[in-house]
Amino acid sequence: MELALNNLPRTIAVELEGGVPSIVLVDQCRLPGELVYLRTSDWRELVDAVKTLAVRGAPAIGVAGAAAVMLAAFEYADGDGFDRLLAEAARAIAAARPTAVNLVWGVNKAREVVSEARQAGASLQADSNARQAGASPRETAVALYRLTEDLIAEDETVNRRIGSHGAALLRGLAASGEHVRPLNILTHCNAGSLATAFYGTALGVVYASAQEGLVNRVYADETRPVNQGARLTVWELAQAGVPVTLQCDNMAASLMEKGQVDAVIVGADRIAANGDAANKIGTLGLAVLANFYGIPFYVAAPMSTIDCSTKSGADIPIEDRDRAEVLPDPIPGVEVRNPAFDVTPYRLITAIVTEEGVWEPAR
Ligand code: MRU
Repeated sequence: MELALNNLPRTIAVELEGGVPSIVLVDQCRLPGELVYLRTSDWRELVDAVKTLAVRGAPAIGVAGAAAVMLAAFEYADGDGFDRLLAEAARAIAAARPTAVNLVWGVNKAREVVSEARQAGASLQADSNARQAGASPRETAVALYRLTEDLIAEDETVNRRIGSHGAALLRGLAASGEHVRPLNILTHCNAGSLATAFYGTALGVVYASAQEGLVNRVYADETRPVNQGARLTVWELAQAGVPVTLQCDNMAASLMEKGQVDAVIVGADRIAANGDAANKIGTLGLAVLANFYGIPFYVAAPMSTIDCSTKSGADIPIEDRDRAEVLPDPIPGVEVRNPAFDVTPYRLITAIVTEEGVWEPAR
């Protein structure tokens, strides 16, 4: 299948003009109605964009986290208290959303660059009287700018590797009958190009597989309450030229019962050391159904989503979001629960596809 990946926008980009950096983001709150970009040089506005889901998806918010530290470094570079103010900003940025570990990963990448730059020369101090000073605040900010550029480029490379490992799995699945048969794939939420700098994780597997003629159709859950599936997944698959059908969240069981799903592929926001995976609310239900119907259930995510310091899914913090996302007009006497994620236990996961290869956590 000939894909039109060039029709997909770059989710996050960085620019430097006259010594002032800007982050340019696809405003995902405005899709699919209009493709518009947010531009900001203020780290607080970038944090707001993460909180309001203008930029969302674990890998994309990982890059946004590092980018926000970079914007803060430029802001504080010329005043007093650079190290203290930057450390405070980094803490606030890392706390913008709790579940996707990539956000902390991105902020930590930035922290590493800052401490290396600021302490450069300290190791020489012991052997030499001539102390070589660490980088200045402005030099540190420039180093963070380079980090942001690198993370954006690296993310696409990683996703393309995830795609090719995942396509190898689907090749096997498509060839498991007498003839090679293009597959029907079910996905939930948006783990596509829009959830990353470019290309996507779960949808990266779809794109790599579709290019080999292995995909018949993608069924995309609408993914209540914020409808990332209905607004984002179907839009980006249509842009790329992949056949896609939008369905209500509660249709999956009947589609599986009719034998119309060959594989489920989703992304993840945090994977614990034992393979339990947090992803958009509703993923667990799909995994239970896939297990019942004997359908492979794949999780596609970069290594930066694997958090070995979290032992199992029970330790993954789950974000509670505003009840207005579920019930915009409150009804007196009605309580609303709106957890954004659930955790799929590793034993329901057929394989986790990363850039480094495929892990079968239940084996
Ligand atoms: O709340 P979001 O939209 O940031 O959630 C993202 C997801 O849960 C996606 O399903 C995705 O799988 C994880 S990021 C590729």
